Amino acid sequence: MQPDIFGPGTGTDTSGVLTPGAVGWAVGVAAMAPSLHNSQPWLFHWNGSDLEVHADWSRQLPVIDPDGRQLLLSCGAALFQGALAMRALGRTAEITLADEVGAGIPLACIHGATRDERAPGFEEWALVNAVFERRTTRAMFNARRVPASLLADLTDAVSLEGAHLHVVAEGDTTQVTALAHTLALADRAQRASPHYRRELQEWTRPAGDGTPDGVPQVAAGARRPVPEPEPGEFLQRDFGSDRLWQGPPEHPTIMLLSAEDDQQSLLRAGMALARLLLVATAAGAKASLLNQAVDLAGSREMVRRHTRTPALPQVLLRLGYTDEVAAPTPRRPVTEILMTSDPCTWAPSPR
Ligand SMILES: Cc1cc2nc3c(=O)[nH]c(=O)nc-3n(C[C@H](O)[C@H](O)[C@H](O)COP(=O)(O)O)c2cc1C
Repeated sequence: MQPDIFGPGTGTDTSGVLTPGAVGWAVGVAAMAPSLHNSQPWLFHWNGSDLEVHADWSRQLPVIDPDGRQLLLSCGAALFQGALAMRALGRTAEITLADEVGAGIPLACIHGATRDERAPGFEEWALVNAVFERRTTRAMFNARRVPASLLADLTDAVSLEGAHLHVVAEGDTTQVTALAHTLALADRAQRASPHYRRELQEWTRPAGDGTPDGVPQVAAGARRPVPEPEPGEFLQRDFGSDRLWQGPPEHPTIMLLSAEDDQQSLLRAGMALARLLLVATAAGAKASLLNQAVDLAGSREMVRRHTRTPALPQVLLRLGYTDEVAAPTPRRPVTEILMTSDPCTWAPSPR
């Protein structure tokens, strides 16, 4: 169920302090963020003035994400949405990123104690609304082109958060072909690993099983049969070479978000990803993520060379339009992710 949207300045008690309901709403908005395999690797703690965002390292995916890089991207996306919610509650929502890692130390804090005299503007409300509309799509796109004005907005959105967006120029078939080839190689290499397939399977859910995480089969949009499937196996990341661009009439725009690999840069890149996806959603566009291409060090380096990006590849996306409505993915209840006790007792350090 979607939380209600409060007006600015509501959700406070008579002394202006945020009520537990308002904090819970902000956490619910944060938790609608995208995450690798819908692992939702985050926990939150309200310390009386700040909403702390913690990593839940027990939800790291050891095969696909051995360094926790995509876990931090996911937490960055939740951080952006948590701050957006705090702004909607009329708070200043300044973000402080941690510069150390350790048990009980939050990745970031969102300041929630100070009222902002400026009410959130139309653009911020449009992004809040987009939180509940955004879904990862795995459908084919139609022939409608992404307008240059939206591409400019997305580039600005990403640089506002300190990351870099490379948009593959329309008609640059050399670059699209090189990226498609790299994606296909990576896809094949990953699928050849029984460990990868087992992990993917562990995070893919049969229809209606009621689990509050992972990707339901219906959202995965399995189209192709799995070569040599295990019992019950189907494709969750259904895009090899044929999914980057499927030929006319499809007309996606391919883009790469890049940033450095330190903790703060990854959190900023995750924030940039969330802002990009919400700006795109508010404009009616849909996105697929094609991260097989950047999971493995070798293919990631090939992507960097093909795109000549100034930083390290983090997320490869295709953006476009489709009338197909992607199925929603579940979320863990707020009561499971908003912790009330001392963070040292539930937030271990990374392995
Ligand atoms: C860092 C990151 C990497 C992702 N990689 C892929 C991917 O390679 N393929 C894919 O289909 N979805 C990918 N996703 C999307 C997630 O599967 C999706 O966000 C999650 O299932 C929740 O669904 P939703 O985005 O519709 O809310 C990725 C998301 C994140 C944050």
